[in-house]
This record gives sequence, C-alpha cells and structure tokens, in this order.
Amino acid sequence: MTDTTTHTAAPAEHTVRPALHYTANSTWLNDPNGLVFYQGLYHLFYQNNPFDNVWGNMSWGHATSKDLLHWNEHPVAIPCDEQEDVFSGSIVVDNGNTTGFGSPENPALVAIYTSAFKEGSGYEGTQAQSLAFSTDAGMTWQKYAGNPVLNRGSAHFRDPKVFRYQGSAGSFWVMVAVEAQHQQVVLYRSADLKDWEYLSTFGPANATGGEWECPDLFPLPVDGNPDHVKWVLVVNINPGAVAGGSGGQYFVGHFDGVQFTADSDSLVADGNTNLRHCLWLDWGRDYYAAVSFSNVPDNRRIMIGWMNNWDYANSLPTFPWRSSMSLAREIELATIDGLPRLVQRPVLPADLGPTIYTMEDQEIRDSRVALPHADPASVQVIDADILPGSAGTTTLSLLGAADGNAATLVSFDAVTQQLTLDRRRSGNTAFHEKFASAESAPVTLEDGVLRLRVIIDHGSVEVFAQGGKVVLTDLVFPEPGNLRTQLSVEGGTAIVRKLTVSAVS
Ligand code: FRU
Repeated sequence: MTDTTTHTAAPAEHTVRPALHYTANSTWLNDPNGLVFYQGLYHLFYQNNPFDNVWGNMSWGHATSKDLLHWNEHPVAIPCDEQEDVFSGSIVVDNGNTTGFGSPENPALVAIYTSAFKEGSGYEGTQAQSLAFSTDAGMTWQKYAGNPVLNRGSAHFRDPKVFRYQGSAGSFWVMVAVEAQHQQVVLYRSADLKDWEYLSTFGPANATGGEWECPDLFPLPVDGNPDHVKWVLVVNINPGAVAGGSGGQYFVGHFDGVQFTADSDSLVADGNTNLRHCLWLDWGRDYYAAVSFSNVPDNRRIMIGWMNNWDYANSLPTFPWRSSMSLAREIELATIDGLPRLVQRPVLPADLGPTIYTMEDQEIRDSRVALPHADPASVQVIDADILPGSAGTTTLSLLGAADGNAATLVSFDAVTQQLTLDRRRSGNTAFHEKFASAESAPVTLEDGVLRLRVIIDHGSVEVFAQGGKVVLTDLVFPEPGNLRTQLSVEGGTAIVRKLTVSAVS
C-alpha cells in the first residue's frame, strides 16, 4: 500500500510549486478523496498528513475551487484520532435524507471513508468503512457515532466509492471497495448508507501484480449516445502498473445493479501477463488513485489522480509541501478501433492566454528547431499536429539546459509506433533509485497525424496524444532556469501542420 520509510524533512532542493496543480501549502498529500461538486464549488478532499510532509497521521485535507484550476486550502476536514487513521473514500450528496443527517431542504454531504483502526481501538488490525457528515456544505464534519458501518473483519478492506444507482434493479446506494490483497473489488448496496448488503465480487482480473486500491464505477454513454451506455470500472494498482509501481487500469462492461461484468474485449486472456494488453488510464509513472467527482451537472465525468508513485513518493525533493494532484480530466467513452475506450481531456482555462509561438505547414528534415522559452512563471501548453512522415523519430525536448545536457523528451518512433516520455536526464533524478525512467505507449497515427497536447507546469509533464486516447504523466525536477524547448526530427522529414505554444498564467 505505502512506502512507509521514514524520512526527515527534505532540504529546499526544489521549491518551485506547480501553478495549476493542487499542492497543500506545507504538508503531505496522497489520494484525492470525496471529490464532489456542490453549490457551485468543486471540493477536493485528500489523504493528508496535517503534521508533516511524509505519509502518516492520515486525515482528510480539504480544498475548493470554482474552475478545477485554482484551489483554496481549508482546515483539515476529517482528522485522524486515537482510534483510527482516516483512509481514502468518497462523498455523496444525500438528497433524499436517507441517513437522517440533514433535512430534505438541506441535504447532508456524507463521507464514506476507511477507518484504519489503531492499536487499542477495539478493532485493531481491521480496515472497515465509516461515515462522517456535513450540514454546512462541506466546510465542517462530524464522525457518525455508529461507526464503523461496514466491517468484514478484514485487514485490507478499503477505499469505498459510493454512488446512487438508479436502474432496472431499483434505486439505492452502491459501494465499490477493495479487498486489496486479493485483487478484488467488492460491491455492496444500502438504503441509508448505514446498513450494507453484500452484492458481488469482481476480480482478480488483468493487472494483478500488486494491491488493488481506490476503485470507481460509473456509467458513460458511448460516443455521446444516451441509448448506448457502458459502465467503466476503474481499479488502481500498486505496485504492478504498466510503467512500474503505481497506476490505474480500467475495465469496460455492464452493471445490472448487482454485478459488474467486464466485456471480453477489455479482459486479457488467462495467463497473458503482458501489462501492455490491459487498459490504462495513463502510461506514465505519476497518475495514481484516480477517481471521479460525484454530483457534477450534465452527467460530466471528471477525474483527478494523485500525481505521484509509491515507488518514491516520500522522497520527492520538495519542501515544505510534498506531492500534488494531476490536472482534472474530463473523460468520455469513444469507439476506438471498434471498441469503447476512454478518452481524457485535461481541464484547462477556456482562454489559454497568449500564444507565444506558432509554426504552420513547415517541413523539417533531419534538424532541430528552437521553440521560445516560456516565461518561468507560466504554465506552457504545446499543441502540435505533426505528420512524422518518413522521419524515424520526432522529438519535443522540454525544460532543457542551455548546453543541451539535460531535458525531458517526448518522442515518437515511427517504426515502433510508440510515444515515449523520457525523464532520465530531466534534472534531479538522484533522490531515489527508481525515479529515472522512460515510459512508452502505443499510438496509432490518424491520417498520418500525431496530435499532441503537452502541459508543462514547472515540475510535471502531462502528454495527451490523439485527442486524449493515450496519456502519459511524469513528474520532473529540472534545474531552475532550464527552460529550453526544441523540436527535432531525425532520420527523414516530418511536416509540422501546426504547432502552438501558449503561456497560461
Ligand atoms: C492508496 C492508499 C489507499 C489508502 C490510502 C492511505 O494510495 O494506499 O489504499 O486508503 O492510500 O493513505
């Protein structure tokens, strides 16, 4: 579950914070929890150590935002106490006042979280599900006196995601949670969030080389068609993800109010251990514990992940804060090669700000083109439509040193049809032996075109390829002042149909 090595506070090696990615002011965070939209605000609760910048004292921190880009930190919402650490979970708006915690006019927000019980608590060694509620729109919280509400006597039963099911089987609350060490998602139902009835179990399936954590289950129309709805089951796994360590896989299938059944095309055959055949939310190293918001209007489905990896999370060279969230991603199901698959688009400001560079219809043959340095305070967004043509490799080189000795590379190989994010020479990689890495994902050109949206926010590079069909996210720690950006083409000629660099501030 976690890298529990104790580290003292890191020196101020890298103090540059991301601008659009949420960080806690001066403490540690991990998983996003209780993502909910309510009365015009997006609430981001999260695993937080209120007293330090390493994992421990797990409590729910809290931040809110109107636009998913600019966040305000609030006091700790649900603290750990002598009995329990407060592990991951979700929040629902109890519109029907099924719990009696609120009233029909003022529904309570109800958090369903994992109590990781401590020694002497009476439930020592157990992880069970508990409730807390708020009747002031999420600003203050009270733990329910009848906790825990669902206890299987298991030491690894956690991360409840609850949603309101309405369908052929009726109308009730459904919880998906994990038996982490059995690689199983367990489903329960309830009328009042307090009494839970077992429904079914899914798994093990596909990637099973680590603990299953933080599941999510939701319906999405395929290609926007309300008459063709599929269910998506998200299962985070640590370790054992495609790029190593932590990551998120998903399954597409059907949920009948009792059981989730994966479509056969989203399951790898028994005995197939090639992780590249599973479905991944992200092929990079740093997108974990991703779950979606509840109560978002217009059935929009928006996810946030923890932009980190348990392989080295406690060692990131930042101070006093440590760890950030990914950008929010709006997700849809689209038909890709005949099959329903997730497409993810980052939430960015409607107006990206000044375009500081545009290149159009330019042929580049075995050479390098310098792109402008971004202003160090801003976030860079690079949008590119490139025809790799006969070129062997087409590479965007980011956050580079003036002498060319360091950079983060986003590179397309026309022979293998792989897109690689390479941070081996990105800057400080020495703080952990597992940090230096290069990850690649299969990308199919569309009419010969490679379409990229790359977001560079100081210490991270998120790459959305082919309109969000493939995503790669990596943290990087470049030396301050390393801002050189280049496009290089090797082994032939590529045509840049259009490339823009925007500076979001
Ligand atoms: C995932 C996780 C969860 C757990 C939480 C503890 O990163 O291990 O399974 O609830 O973090 O902080």
